Amino acid sequence: MLEIRNVDKVYHTRGKPPVHAVRALDMDIRSGEIVALLGSSGCGKTSTLRMIAGFESVSSGSIALAQRPIHELPPAKRRVAMAFEGYSLYPPLTVRENIAFALKAQQLSRSEIAQRVDNIARLVEIEDILDSHPRALSGGQQQRVSLARALVRDADLYLLDEPMGQLEPQLRAVLRGRIKGLLAERGMTAIFVTHDQTEASALADRIAVMEDGVLQQFANERELKNRPANLFVASFIGEPPMNLLETTVRRAEAGFRLTAGSGMAFDIPSQTLAPAAQQALAQADRIKVGIRPQRIAIGSGEARLRVVSNQWLGDQSHVAGECAGHLLVAVTSSRVAARPGDVVPCALDAKNLHLFGTDGLCIRHAEAR
Ligand SMILES: Nc1ncnc2c1ncn2[C@@H]1O[C@H](COP(=O)(O)OP(=O)(O)OP(=O)(O)O)[C@@H](O)[C@H]1O
Ligand SMILES: [Mg+2]
Repeated sequence: MLEIRNVDKVYHTRGKPPVHAVRALDMDIRSGEIVALLGSSGCGKTSTLRMIAGFESVSSGSIALAQRPIHELPPAKRRVAMAFEGYSLYPPLTVRENIAFALKAQQLSRSEIAQRVDNIARLVEIEDILDSHPRALSGGQQQRVSLARALVRDADLYLLDEPMGQLEPQLRAVLRGRIKGLLAERGMTAIFVTHDQTEASALADRIAVMEDGVLQQFANERELKNRPANLFVASFIGEPPMNLLETTVRRAEAGFRLTAGSGMAFDIPSQTLAPAAQQALAQADRIKVGIRPQRIAIGSGEARLRVVSNQWLGDQSHVAGECAGHLLVAVTSSRVAARPGDVVPCALDAKNLHLFGTDGLCIRHAEAR
C-alpha cells in the first residue's frame, strides 16, 4: 500500500557539510496497518515523514501510495494527512477553523463539517477550546488540535509526528486507546513517531527502529525483543536494556566456549548454531553476547552476583550486581530480599544468550520462550 524504495535524504545547507539524514530506506506498509517509527533524536524520523507527505523532496528513490507514485506530487495531491512535530497551526484561525480547513477544500457541506469537527474534538478532548485561537492554548492543547486536524481528514495515509509527546501520562493513555479504536474502526493506515516504547507497542502493529538515518529493523514488538537483528536494536528495545558482555571465543568439544572474564563461561553447542553462525564463531576471537535482565534467574544457579542495588517496583525486582567483573541487571517478578553487598546465586543459561558478530549483526538468538 505504501512502498518506500531506496529513499535517501541529503540536506545541503550553504557553508555547512551536507547531512545524510535518511539512507537507502526500504519499507512496505500494508493498508490498514499502524506503524511506529522509533529512534533517538536526529535519526531521521521527521525527515522520513516529511518526504512521504511531500514537504521535503527525496534526494533519490521513490515512494508509491495505493500504487500511485507520489514522490513528485505536491503535498495537496498525495492524499496524505500529517500532524506536525511543531503543530504548524494557522494563528489567525480559531481551533474550529484550523480543524475544518482541509474539509472546506474537500467541499463538504457545512453541517457535515461541523459534525466531523465536533466528533474529533470530543475524541481528543478539546470541545471546550474550539473557539479559541492557537496562541491562547497550552502546548498539549495545540498538539491535540494538530492531531485532530490530521485525523479529521479523508486520506489514504496518516502521518503523526510525536502526536502525544506533550500530554500528561493519564490523558496520553486514554487518547492512545481512542486513537487506536478510531484507526481500526476506519481501517486507516498510519505512521506515527514516538520516543516511547510503551506507546509504540500499545498502538502499532509493527515498529520501525531507526538509527543514524538507517532502518535497523521493522517488525512487531515480540520479534524485536526476541530476535533483534543487531546490537543497536538489542540494546535499544527492552527495559531495562539487555546486558551485553564481551567474550573471548575458543573452540570446544561439541561447539564453542565463550569466556567473559574470570569464572564466567558459556558453552554453545554447535547444533544451536546455523552454519553461518558456526563459521562466524570459528573466525572470531571475541564476540559480544547479550542476555535480557528477565532471563537471568536469581536465587539458584552456579554464578554469583554481588548485589549493588535492589529495587522492588511493586510488581518486579530489579537487582543490579557484579558478576565475574561485569555489572549485570536482573529482573524477577518475585521480591528479592538481598541487600547491597550480599552475594546471591544466579543462573546465566547459554540458551538465553544472543550472540553478536564483530559487525554487530546477531548471529544467534536466545531460545524462544
Ligand atoms: N531542513 C534541514 N536542513 C538541514 N538539516 C536538517 C534539516 N532537517 C533535519 N536536518 C538534520 O537531519 C537529521 C535528521 O533530522 P530529523 O528531524 O529527521 O530527525 P528526528 O529523528 O525527527 O529527530 P527528533 O527526534 O529530534 O525529532 C538531523 O541531523 C537534523 O539536524
Ligand atoms: Mg523529529
